[in-house]
Amino acid sequence: MTPRLNFLGLLPALILLCGIAAAEEGSALLPPIPPPAKGDECVEPTDVMRRDHMRFLQHQRDDTVHGGIRGAKHSLVGCIDCHAQTDAHGVAIAVNAKGQFCESCHSFAGVRMDCFGCHTAVPAPDQAGMTLLEWTTSPVLAVTKPASPRTD
Ligand code: HEC
Ligand code: HEC
Ligand code: HEC
Repeated sequence: MTPRLNFLGLLPALILLCGIAAAEEGSALLPPIPPPAKGDECVEPTDVMRRDHMRFLQHQRDDTVHGGIRGAKHSLVGCIDCHAQTDAHGVAIAVNAKGQFCESCHSFAGVRMDCFGCHTAVPAPDQAGMTLLEWTTSPVLAVTKPASPRTD
């Protein structure tokens, strides 16, 4: 048997192992996922979130865009609020920056998503008076780069 065939023979076992590992918390086979910056628990149980967060987001999006419902349980704004880390200067790091919460897992799993082309990937600073649409698409927020030191 060539080494290549040997490797292919091992694949089902590897896939099974990954599955088991994914079901366990803190497994060495999962990428390092930054801990949440805020909150004691997620909007759903953690295992449910791992599996189904994309479906919750999809529903929330439909509810908001078609139903006008905002600020609900599965809001994308909420995810970012709790899951974005801050750098040494206290500046929020985008959740889709390399190694950050959403990115770490997605690059590991080979998932590509375009949400942050429109939605900001950092939590809202106190932006009173902005509508969610203005806020989510604000160029001021969009240029907030990871680790850019605050000058004020
Ligand atoms: C072309 C721009 C665009 C893209 C790309 C986009 N969105 Fe949105 N999204 C919007 C706009 C505009 C709203 C409406 C905001 C409002 O009216 O409150 C919205 C609203 C939402 C909401 C409801 C508001 C909230 O914060 O919960 C969710 C959830 C959402 N989008 C998720 C996603 C996800 C997930 C993706 C990627 C798969 C995505 N969006 C990609 C423009 C976009
Ligand atoms: C109130 C704060 C809060 C909000 C809002 C929130 N999360 Fe969480 N999330 C957490 C906490 C805390 C954990 C870790 C729970 C644990 O360790 O069991 C977590 C865990 C997760 C996990 C599992 C991570 C892992 O290590 O496997 C995913 C995925 C996730 N959240 C995605 C989301 C998404 C997507 C949203 C928005 C729809 C969201 N979260 C909203 C606080 C939050
Ligand atoms: C524990 C790992 C993990 C974390 C953390 C995580 N994701 Fe995911 N995400 C996945 C996996 C795996 C998929 C692909 C699932 C599938 O295709 O069935 C996915 C898919 C998605 C999708 C659907 C992409 C598409 O177009 O099909 C969206 C939207 C999404 N994630 C949003 C987020 C957001 C926003 C965060 C951060 C707040 C986040 N995810 C954090 C693992 C994760």
